[in-house]
Amino acid sequence: MTFLHLMMVSVLSGGLAEVVHDFREKCADIFANGASPTILHGHQYKQICQTFKKKVYYATLYDTDNKIPVYSAYKFVKQMSCKRKHFWCIEPQLDNPEEGPNMVHDRSRQSSHQAVTDDYKHSGFDRGHLAPVYLASSQDCADATFTLTNAAPQNPSFNSGKWRTLEEKISNELTKRCLSKKNTAYIVTGVVPGKNKIKGKVNVPSHFWTAYCCLDHNKECQISRGFIGKNRNLTPKNITVNELQRSLENLYKVKSFQLFSTKAN
Ligand SMILES: *[C@@H]1O[C@H](CO)[C@@H](O)[C@H](O)[C@H]1NC(C)=O
Repeated sequence: MTFLHLMMVSVLSGGLAEVVHDFREKCADIFANGASPTILHGHQYKQICQTFKKKVYYATLYDTDNKIPVYSAYKFVKQMSCKRKHFWCIEPQLDNPEEGPNMVHDRSRQSSHQAVTDDYKHSGFDRGHLAPVYLASSQDCADATFTLTNAAPQNPSFNSGKWRTLEEKISNELTKRCLSKKNTAYIVTGVVPGKNKIKGKVNVPSHFWTAYCCLDHNKECQISRGFIGKNRNLTPKNITVNELQRSLENLYKVKSFQLFSTKAN
């Protein structure tokens, strides 16, 4: 069979794959009201329902040209402290659609479709998590964040400094003002491609951004905020989701960039 035939078979066999054509096939419940943030157009963008031990934990829109995510989307369920894993995974289906749905151990693999651990070595950048360990609600969930498709080159002092502080503040804010009311907290975290690449391959983002929506029983964001900062250790700007959407429209050069499918304030 040709590669194209294999692709067709894998498509027709019912979309069991983790790299999906549409997030809704396997991970709609990750998103507020079942609708993902804006999907950028182009063959380089792949929708991944991030699966670990056969369970989907979050969703990533991945840019196979820049080898970094556009964003990862996840629910914040509870505060807990998970251990950090010592190895990273990759998404095997980006290289071969016939591979299984689970992320697999990196094991010094090479790839032309995604970043691997070797690409980051001696680069001076951290593998900055988008869906973070800090907001994970179980150890498996924390382990599932250690995939290169959920990471982008991040200034190390930003990663362990102001960005980390922001994750903690968001976690406290949502625990106090959202989870305590039995509402559901949805978060989307992303990066904007910059001008430089590590080893001519992995794009170093110019900005990191994140936004949350606390969805109430009327399916509206009761509280929501957006945050964006350059890839340097400075406190990210704290703005409205609408303001963040306008910034992202300018930075990604698209007409509309929606984060949550509801009236965010
Ligand atoms: C962001 O600003 C809002 C509104 O002023 C405030 O309630 C919230 O605590 C701030 N959040 C963070 C993480 O700084």
